[in-house]
Amino acid sequence: MTKNKYHWYDGWFYDKVIAPNQDKLFEQITSLIEPGSGVIDIGCGTGRLAFSLAAKCKTVLGIDLSERNIDRARFSLSLHPDDKISFQHHDISDLISNGQDHFDFAVFTYVIHEVPEEERITLLNEAAIIADKIIIGDYLVPKPGGFGSFLSEVIEFIAGSDHYKNYRSYMSNGGISFLAEKAGFRIINEISNAPLTNHIIILAK
Ligand SMILES: C[S@@+](CC[C@H](N)C(=O)[O-])C[C@H]1O[C@@H](n2cnc3c(N)ncnc32)[C@H](O)[C@@H]1O
Repeated sequence: MTKNKYHWYDGWFYDKVIAPNQDKLFEQITSLIEPGSGVIDIGCGTGRLAFSLAAKCKTVLGIDLSERNIDRARFSLSLHPDDKISFQHHDISDLISNGQDHFDFAVFTYVIHEVPEEERITLLNEAAIIADKIIIGDYLVPKPGGFGSFLSEVIEFIAGSDHYKNYRSYMSNGGISFLAEKAGFRIINEISNAPLTNHIIILAK
């Protein structure tokens, strides 16, 4: 059975208050994906990116460990039905053991920084089993100065003590560039400051 990861802000609050702030990053990621692709959005939250991707993709599957986020994503899908989109409360390892389809892209937005340090490389390697390329949108390391970085720090602190601990270790250990090198990925493309405190990296094995 898939474990249920729970944050106090999951569901309605995440969908209405937090996810809309990600739109600039979501637009950039959508523009990087080739038309007609099959995409898996790992840690899809309440599914906002899937609706942006569906306009140009063949299929979009969003998976998340938070049942409450998946319920909210399905609620949005019921209001805006789209046959290309589906949401599942699943761990990526469930999909691998079920012999899930192969995808052109696996996307992680604001997921890797919140995953415990010891699980990050496993997660990236699992994504590489089911997808040709991996697109990650997350905090830029080292973090630029300014109000945006201060605000990110405050938001991560408010998210909870485990979340903040994972964020701190992600930032102090070199973020995605460090993980990509350690796990033997090639960096195909990187777009920094998108928005200012973030970057997008495309990886392949
Ligand atoms: C900060 S939210 C980001 C949600 C969405 N990607 C976005 O950008 O708005 C991180 C999400 O990743 C999910 N998550 C964390 N670890 C995961 C894992 N190993 N597999 C699937 N989902 C995971 C959490 O439940 C949470 O919904």
